[in-house]
Amino acid sequence: HNRLHIKGGRVVNADCSVDADVYIENGLIVKVIGIFLFFVRICVCLVGKNLDVPGGTRVVDASGKLVMPGGIDTHTHMQLPFMGTFAVDDFYVGTKAAIAGGTTMIIDFVLDQKGVSLIEAYDKWRGWADPKVCCDYSFHIAVTWWSPQVKSEMAELAKNRGINSFKMFMAYKDVFMLDDSELYEVYKNCRELGALAMMHAENGHVIQHEQERMLNLGITGPEGHALCRPEDVEAEATGRAIMIANRLNCPMYIVHVMSKSSADPIAASLGTDGTNYWHKCWRHAAGHVMGPPLRPDPTTPGYLMDLLANGDLECTGTDNCTFNASQKALGKDNFAKIPNGVNGVEDRMSVIWEKGVASGKMDENRFVAVTSTNAAKVFNIYPQKGVIAPGSDADIIIWDAEATRTISAKTHHQAVDFNIFEGLVCHGVNSCTISRGKVVYEAEDNKFTVSGGDGKFVPR
Ligand code: URP
Ligand code: ZN
Ligand code: ZN
Repeated sequence: HNRLHIKGGRVVNADCSVDADVYIENGLIVKVIGIFLFFVRICVCLVGKNLDVPGGTRVVDASGKLVMPGGIDTHTHMQLPFMGTFAVDDFYVGTKAAIAGGTTMIIDFVLDQKGVSLIEAYDKWRGWADPKVCCDYSFHIAVTWWSPQVKSEMAELAKNRGINSFKMFMAYKDVFMLDDSELYEVYKNCRELGALAMMHAENGHVIQHEQERMLNLGITGPEGHALCRPEDVEAEATGRAIMIANRLNCPMYIVHVMSKSSADPIAASLGTDGTNYWHKCWRHAAGHVMGPPLRPDPTTPGYLMDLLANGDLECTGTDNCTFNASQKALGKDNFAKIPNGVNGVEDRMSVIWEKGVASGKMDENRFVAVTSTNAAKVFNIYPQKGVIAPGSDADIIIWDAEATRTISAKTHHQAVDFNIFEGLVCHGVNSCTISRGKVVYEAEDNKFTVSGGDGKFVPR
């Protein structure tokens, strides 16, 4: 029956914390038994005096630790074909790194070229992911072109393939970008389908001109990336996206907005800043190139963390999309050719704990909300995910709030040769990851007990 008993820990959900044991059977949480909370007391009355656990149950000792819902990373790009190369974290290494860091679900993107059938793209990405994933996952689908075929394929995906979120681009002109008229059509369709519209908000026309202008000025290094996409390029597109969504009453989720005016932070923009584009080491500077860029204003991360703590911002995704030095070097003489993307899938939980909880800005419950519960709610998988409660999937992490670790590319589990959080000392270390009721990672001996394909596609 695949039974697990998490003993002696403090169960932390988005609404409250309680000292309680968790009993798991066949991948699902069966009971959460504490003694202090009223509703739990009723529960104890119903099931008997004590948590009676059948023989043969594996016991995991969580005393002195926090037992929390596994993280949900709302935004990753494993093995993405992009800017002339492929992201180096594939669905195997990427999800293994995720579980090491305390994330038990990723939502990745099906992102193909204009003209490609969305259904074919979906099948292709499922074919890549299904045999490799070490934790549960789901997909958003990028809509990079518009036609009657796309319209009907969106309906098929929403109705029969478990997809309820579609990403559109206002940047990457001639590659992924849609114009306002197409955006209007896609939003309208999202609204009709009851799907969530997601937006990459940067003005692609202006970026293209500005890239040319920078190159003509002789600015070819990674700092050109920041200079040609300043904050107002992002702010304008964000406002335009909101305006169109408002016209159509279409719910919208701004992905990876990076500036103070943003609505949806990512771990990277909370954890570091854009002064790195001027770093003397080219690899270091290029290692931070992503779109939209990190902001040179060093007060941005703290500002975004305040918004995450106070409820103005809700979710955290990493946009994990990693490239090695040799791949970043495609843009050695032209920043516009540096493949855009950074790491984060492994370190998101620790970075947010360090900068959010250890700093005193948020409590452990808000941490669970912004790393897991809110994502589960927004993307329609609550309470299957995002909460420790009877009937929910047993995706659980055992978190050592006292321990510290130093983030480094030398010790991380990702395939990439660089880490944008290098040297950051984080309080809050994941000590054990449970995915669908199975212990899949133990930090003590850095032991994984998981194989590619153990994760499941989660229809939403
Ligand atoms: O730089 C980024 N963000 N790379 C991934 C592609 C995207 O726009 O999400
Ligand atoms: Zn994007
Ligand atoms: Zn992305």
